[in-house]
Amino acid sequence: MVDVAVVGASGAVGQTIERVLRERAVPVGRLGRFASRARDGIEEVRLDRLQQFDVVFFASSEDASCTYAPALLERGAIVIDNSSTYRLREDVPLIVPGVNSEAMGAEQRLFPVANCTAIILCVALAPLRQRAGLRRVRVATYQAASGAGRAGLDELLASERAAFTGAPDAPPKVFSRVLARNVIPQIGDIDEHGESGEERKVRDEARKLLGLPALALSASTVRVPVHTAHAEAVWVETERETSVEELYAALERTPGVRVHREGIVTPREVEGSDLVHVARLRREDDHSQRHFVLWCVGDQLRRGAATTAVEILELLLARGLVA
Ligand SMILES: NC(=O)c1ccc[n+]([C@@H]2O[C@H](COP(=O)([O-])OP(=O)(O)OC[C@H]3O[C@@H](n4cnc5c(N)ncnc54)[C@H](OP(=O)(O)O)[C@@H]3O)[C@@H](O)[C@H]2O)c1
Repeated sequence: MVDVAVVGASGAVGQTIERVLRERAVPVGRLGRFASRARDGIEEVRLDRLQQFDVVFFASSEDASCTYAPALLERGAIVIDNSSTYRLREDVPLIVPGVNSEAMGAEQRLFPVANCTAIILCVALAPLRQRAGLRRVRVATYQAASGAGRAGLDELLASERAAFTGAPDAPPKVFSRVLARNVIPQIGDIDEHGESGEERKVRDEARKLLGLPALALSASTVRVPVHTAHAEAVWVETERETSVEELYAALERTPGVRVHREGIVTPREVEGSDLVHVARLRREDDHSQRHFVLWCVGDQLRRGAATTAVEILELLLARGLVA
């Protein structure tokens, strides 16, 4: 049995981590719930309380992991952090079970969980890389409101109600525009090169996860009025010639992927699923055996965050690496 704390227990990812721990019957002894302020069943976060747990999941802000993770690691705890704080640190492997579990070090105690869009993308790309190598990837995303946490989903719901009743729109706080009946081509701040924070994360983290630091990869990330699950249209140029049939077969052999050879798959259909769903794999044009397009969809709260975090703990338990 391991004693587990969740920091961010009142939030979208924290609540999903608890659900996934229960569903997968992870042998949890004591479960501590923490957030920035106390309420029913949740304590205000404090270092001396977190130090009483073997494993601490952070599903909170970058501030919280920066403040508490170093002291927890010093005492030998396992830290599994959904924020972006440690993802790109060179001395910290970024692990997604099923994509690069082999990169997990025996001494590793700190496990950043990668960006949700990058995880969904890399689960779909890993078998293609294995089959034919990757030369270039371009991705356009369609990202759900709950990707911006509880406040993001609440803002979408309020703007949907206003749209329905004809009430005037409240000024948006989480998103840069009203999201109901809209799409917003900006997730995170846009830098001096015109790239958004989310686009940078997807590129940098996908390169790290795939072990391809020089991969040509560009993303255009867009918020859409979907509640949960991110969708991605992906253009792939492979290193070697291959075919749609070979790529579908490689995807079908991958445990975390569900292939839809016929028809389509949409975010509403994959809510609650731990799989990355792939459909509409096709050649980009009639002449090339190296250019392909596909559509993939994943529940970003589960596959893109909580399930990946819990699978990291399961890997550690299976290898006897948790005290
Ligand atoms: N949403 C997604 O799809 C998704 C996917 C992948 C990764 N992530 C990452 O996961 C983390 C959590 O995201 P979320 O969407 O679950 O956010 P959320 O719904 O806004 O929840 C945030 C949680 O963190 C707590 N919190 C915030 N600042 C804190 C602090 N300084 N100390 C202690 N607790 C604090 C909040 O507590 P109070 O309620 O008391 O303020 C709340 O419980 C973020 O780093 C996010 O980038 C999110």
